[in-house]
Amino acid sequence: MTTASRLDTLFPTLAEIPEQYRLGEPIEQRDYLVDGRLLTWNGPLATVRSPVFLATEEGDQQVILGSTPQLDAEAALVALDAAVRAYDNGQGAWPTMRVVERIQHVEAFLARMREQREVVVKLLMWEIGKNLKDSEKEFDRTCDYIVDTIDALKELDRRSSRFELEQDTLGQIRRVPLGVTLCMGPYNYPLNETFTTLIPALIMGNTVVFKPAKFGVLLIRPLLEAFRDSFPAGVINVIYGGGRETVSALMASGKIDVFAFIGTHKGASALKKLHPRPHRLRAALGLDAKNPGIVLPEVDLDNAVNEAVTGALSFNGQRCTALKILFVHEDVVDSFLDKFNSKLAALKPGMPWESGVALTPLPEEGKTDYLKDLVADAVAKGARVVNPGGGQSRGSFFYPAVLYPVSADMRVYQEEQFGPVVPVVAYRDLQKVIDYVLDSDFGQQLSIFGSNSAQVGRLVDAFANQVGRININAQCQRGPDSYPFNGRKNSAEGTLSVHDALRVFSIRTLVATKFQESNKALVSEIIRNRESTFLTTDYIF
Ligand code: G3H
Repeated sequence: MTTASRLDTLFPTLAEIPEQYRLGEPIEQRDYLVDGRLLTWNGPLATVRSPVFLATEEGDQQVILGSTPQLDAEAALVALDAAVRAYDNGQGAWPTMRVVERIQHVEAFLARMREQREVVVKLLMWEIGKNLKDSEKEFDRTCDYIVDTIDALKELDRRSSRFELEQDTLGQIRRVPLGVTLCMGPYNYPLNETFTTLIPALIMGNTVVFKPAKFGVLLIRPLLEAFRDSFPAGVINVIYGGGRETVSALMASGKIDVFAFIGTHKGASALKKLHPRPHRLRAALGLDAKNPGIVLPEVDLDNAVNEAVTGALSFNGQRCTALKILFVHEDVVDSFLDKFNSKLAALKPGMPWESGVALTPLPEEGKTDYLKDLVADAVAKGARVVNPGGGQSRGSFFYPAVLYPVSADMRVYQEEQFGPVVPVVAYRDLQKVIDYVLDSDFGQQLSIFGSNSAQVGRLVDAFANQVGRININAQCQRGPDSYPFNGRKNSAEGTLSVHDALRVFSIRTLVATKFQESNKALVSEIIRNRESTFLTTDYIF
């Protein structure tokens, strides 16, 4: 089947959508969560559009999924005040609660969250166009992350339950919360990435204002009751609306202590600058990336192609970790492109719920035009679209374009396309690739494909101080979640992993005393009489 004919039948009629994947009437959401209550917003609403269009007799019609509250600054500040009150300068019930009890609240939330799997997965497909398998994976991976976080915190707490003795000083060290946290996630992983900051922030005793991503908003709605019922009032507040209006006001208030944000470095910088006391703001940021895949002349080409295709094109290239530029040695570039293109031709375009579908419509309005501009710029400067049908589009769908030969003067050489465009650069001298990484504004990850140990070893050393993760003969990726996920330059601030996130959202407090009889007796008394939740030797089993 040609690409053109595949695109002709891409969008379904309503009748063609299997019953179990239909959504029914548009969802008009007016509620948001503040101070343990679902409030009703009577102001303006933002329309939620799906990347999916329906084929009708009047042409393709974009599906309207519903609407969400378009809160203003005033409403956002009310939510912030609830979080500030619940934190109560660290004296609130939540930040002072024993770890074992906080864990119980999170477990209660997780049980309620699991009940919402089907509806959340369905909304993931409809709101961001993620295919069924990956939507299910996103949900399950998020639940696993919560379980692993609980286990990691138990382990951390067990280690903190003992006293230490150094230079005649008796001490107990525990990690305690930082304060009020603002959590904002990205649209490509609106559940998973958001929860990888939200859950550690909560479980460490911080209180939270959470604003869902720009797409993947309605899918948080089924979790609001679970949030409300599982945590004390004000501990988790969920707001909606434009970031400029709401988040700017929150940051400018100076009451945010921790800023957890996955998005662009420009957005992160602009928001950080609004904080009147930046030295009091802890940030955990996941930002832009332009991860290169480097194919050496001595290589298992089939493996390199397999990894490069999924690395560049899973979820249509809309992953921060996606391979966004491929440097291929000129000795192997022709066979690489042949193999890459035939692998790509086997990827099935379609609707997210269709079995085996890999390529789906894109949620961002204007995205296909942006990608066309990138391709046109490269073509005007000497590149060609080398795969059949590359760059063809229909509505929100853009069929992947493989661009070759790409050179440094083209926009796609530097710009993060965050979509299905695959720039391929041929190189002879490895130094050209090394210089690209050294000069890049980004420093998240990269992939090296090769079998010559001297070449691979040289590159590992060249890049070890440039990026957060070097993948050998494998695509870039975040997981496993026990490994550090970070980046340098404009790509990130701080390190996340199950274990690291607990540290990011907390600080160590040391209680210390001179090791002498009177102090030993005093501390023993406090512990025996259970007169402190900090000073305790309780052990979580
Ligand atoms: O969008 C960025 C995500 O952190 C990438 O995660 O590598 O598992 O797709 P992933």
